[in-house]
Amino acid sequence: MASSASLVLVLFLVFAGEMVISLGIQRSNTQNNKGEGTVAPMEEDELLALFEVMSALLEDTEWAQAHPQPCTDTPWPGIECEVSTTDDPPIFHVTKIHIGPDILSPPCKKSAYLSQSLLKLNYLKALSLFNCFVDSSQVTLPNNLFGAFSSLEHLALENNPSLSGEIPTSLGDVGSLRVLSLSQNSLQGSIPSKIGDLVCLEQLDLSYNNLNGSIPKEIGNLKKMTILDLSWNSIEGAIPHSIGQLQLLQKMDLHSNMLVGNIPHDLGNLKRLVLLDLSHNFIEGPIPETLSGMEVLEYLIIDNNPIKGRVPLFIGKLNKLKLLSLSGCELNGPLPNYFFSLKNLTAISLGNNRLSGPVPKVLGKLPNLDQLNISYNNLSGVLELPEYFITKLGKRLDVRGNHELCTSDDDDEPNRKKNSSSYLGIPSCLTMVPRSGNSFAGGPVEDPSEIKPSWYNSNNISSCSSLLKEDVHVILFTLLLNLVWSPVL
Ligand SMILES: *[C@@H]1O[C@H](CO)[C@@H](O)[C@H](O)[C@H]1NC(C)=O
Ligand SMILES: *[C@@H]1O[C@H](CO)[C@@H](O)[C@H](O)[C@H]1NC(C)=O
Ligand SMILES: *[C@@H]1O[C@H](CO)[C@@H](O)[C@H](O)[C@H]1NC(C)=O
Ligand SMILES: *[C@@H]1O[C@H](CO)[C@@H](O)[C@H](O)[C@H]1NC(C)=O
Ligand SMILES: *[C@@H]1O[C@H](CO)[C@@H](O)[C@H](O)[C@H]1NC(C)=O
Ligand SMILES: *[C@@H]1O[C@H](CO)[C@@H](O)[C@H](O)[C@H]1NC(C)=O
Repeated sequence: MASSASLVLVLFLVFAGEMVISLGIQRSNTQNNKGEGTVAPMEEDELLALFEVMSALLEDTEWAQAHPQPCTDTPWPGIECEVSTTDDPPIFHVTKIHIGPDILSPPCKKSAYLSQSLLKLNYLKALSLFNCFVDSSQVTLPNNLFGAFSSLEHLALENNPSLSGEIPTSLGDVGSLRVLSLSQNSLQGSIPSKIGDLVCLEQLDLSYNNLNGSIPKEIGNLKKMTILDLSWNSIEGAIPHSIGQLQLLQKMDLHSNMLVGNIPHDLGNLKRLVLLDLSHNFIEGPIPETLSGMEVLEYLIIDNNPIKGRVPLFIGKLNKLKLLSLSGCELNGPLPNYFFSLKNLTAISLGNNRLSGPVPKVLGKLPNLDQLNISYNNLSGVLELPEYFITKLGKRLDVRGNHELCTSDDDDEPNRKKNSSSYLGIPSCLTMVPRSGNSFAGGPVEDPSEIKPSWYNSNNISSCSSLLKEDVHVILFTLLLNLVWSPVL
């Protein structure tokens, strides 16, 4: 506490540079105080507590003997100290403990555990243990591990398969926490609602655990949050409306859970959101049009949810969008034409829906599009995508499983076309014979020799009548684009 309020000289451990980089934390004004003779090494209590914490984790039984002055003369790569000038004489405190494969291999001993002596390291700002608890004997997070006197800002316990049990509610008392990452452990139970007390929290990552229960509505109190990742758990219930209060949120990843209900309208308030991933849940549509408020959204990923209905219109307003993924959402209706305004789109995934009607030509004109998956829908007509586009995308263009879609024939290089037809997994329109009872997009084909979908000659307006029933505006627009952009029809 005192140290954070005061001017702090940071000891630079010569070889700790690697670790500083690995934690992604930059230190400025670092200097080596060793040998200046003005600072006492450490308080006895704090030093002993550090020895206990380390011996509970490390194999090395000689650690304390080998590092009697871990802040000065006998440093260790995973430990950082700072010297507090408010103490007289100035004194060193342990501010950071990190153990992971970058420091030791294996990082921790088989019977490693978290010593209660952590409570005595009141100046500790960062604790990170990666790949530490990997033995079959289960380790839990003690309820009284971090108290209200803690200065902990950064707690990262990641990739510890034997770390199980529940997230202790007492973590809600560590008001200084800015980063809480408990990713890739075996934590169970629900997310404590007391997490809503961590008002300084900027990043919460609980991904890859076995958490259940619902997302506590108190999460809406965490107004400083920029990253929220609860993916790969078994979290149930609906997304709380209060998440819409997290105005600074940039990343919200809730994928692969068991979330139900609708997407709250309030999410449209998240004006800084860059990534929204709700995929692989049981969320139902419609997707609210208010989401157009996510003005800087680049990644919209909602696949594999029972959304139903049309591809939402508001997506055409998200002009920073790079990735749109709505596959497996039971969507119907036409493929929208607004993609022309989404110049930054690099990937579109709309496979495994019930989309019908033509494939808009505009898709082939998106300058950055590098992945297009519209497979397993009910799309029909001539696939009018430019050959260079088809070649550029290669396997990243997936149009399979659309039984009434065919590749065009009016090309100077029919052999190449045939190739792309078999390559794309859909027939060439030349060879496509309508099956009885089936129809092309333009309605029933009376004459078997007429193999082009009737809307193909799109200057014949009357032939669009059956499509007009589906969606007047969108189809009219397709027509317009066909007329404007097709040199020869
Ligand atoms: C959550 O999981 C725990 C143990 O894994 C179980 O005891 C509890 O009943 C579950 N809660 C819910 C709401 O499913
Ligand atoms: C598209 O991306 C480029 C480069 O990332 C960026 O400069 C530009 O502003 C983006 N366009 C839009 C409409 O956001
Ligand atoms: C396209 O999407 C479908 C359905 O979602 C999927 O099965 C397929 O693997 C995807 N194709 C490619 C090339 O990724
Ligand atoms: C057919 O298409 C594939 C993929 O675009 C390409 O690798 C191959 O060379 C083509 N074959 C011929 C004969 O053009
Ligand atoms: C496919 O679309 C056509 C209209 O284009 C419609 O008549 C047909 O019922 C659709 N099939 C399925 C399986 O949705
Ligand atoms: C336009 O379509 C209608 C109905 O399909 C057809 O009877 C007519 O001959 C077509 N006109 C032209 C110019 O192709």
